[in-house]
Amino acid sequence: MMPRIVAAETLDSLDENDPAAIRSRRDLQRIHRFMGTRGILVRALQGAVAASQGPKPLRILELGAGDGSLMLAVAGMLASHWPPVDITLLDRQNLVTRQTLDGYARLGWTARPQVNDVFDWAGVQPRHGSDAVQPWDVIVASLFLHHFEAPLLGALLAAIESRTRCFFACEPRRASLALAGSHLVGAIGANAVTREDAVLSVHAGFRDQELGALWPGLRSGWTTRDYAAGLFSHCFLARRRVPANAGSLP
Ligand SMILES: C[S@@+](CC[C@H](N)C(=O)[O-])C[C@H]1O[C@@H](n2cnc3c(N)ncnc32)[C@H](O)[C@@H]1O
Repeated sequence: MMPRIVAAETLDSLDENDPAAIRSRRDLQRIHRFMGTRGILVRALQGAVAASQGPKPLRILELGAGDGSLMLAVAGMLASHWPPVDITLLDRQNLVTRQTLDGYARLGWTARPQVNDVFDWAGVQPRHGSDAVQPWDVIVASLFLHHFEAPLLGALLAAIESRTRCFFACEPRRASLALAGSHLVGAIGANAVTREDAVLSVHAGFRDQELGALWPGLRSGWTTRDYAAGLFSHCFLARRRVPANAGSLP
């Protein structure tokens, strides 16, 4: 049994323009291909959005979006058979390029970067913020929740729960196969930052029903599911049982 250990990752402490950080973010795109993250997200979002029947265009918020390239790849697979999407890419670093925004636009999605710490976003009272006026149809996170210890994570999940009708997260699975894989990322050319962070990420990852156990109170209004996906990922999907009307969350 691996205990969950959260440790600061090197990439988070590097300036966004540091060459090692730029390289590590590129490594991450390759790692996503090995993890099959795009397909995992596409499958989850297809099911979730069919069930949410939210207002159109769909409003999606990605937390810890990085450079926005992962969701751009997801958009590439969904755009042709989905309604138009307004997506907000929240990250505390300013990483989304003009080229990436143009990529979304070509697919008919409107993408907006939001440079913000997630806990500043979480601290804004939803009843007085734009999130409350129009709740998000979907909030999504990838390789993000594992950065936080349980108490902070619980607070973050509470903020998410109050602002959306659907939440999906794809995180590292805390398991021996994923740990072995994380020690091998050098084989795909990952730099020292990525090699170290990959191992830390698995130790901070999730398993079993850990995210569902942290999902806040009001469970009667939600269905939740923790599940393993692919070889290395742990996913969490939470959906409101009865979609809230736009403008008022129960
Ligand atoms: C491992 S990267 C994942 C990026 C992207 N979601 C993906 O899967 O490719 C984690 C991202 O979370 C961001 N991040 C970490 N802590 C944050 C915080 N407190 N608020 C907002 N973003 C944060 C980092 O800047 C980084 O871009």
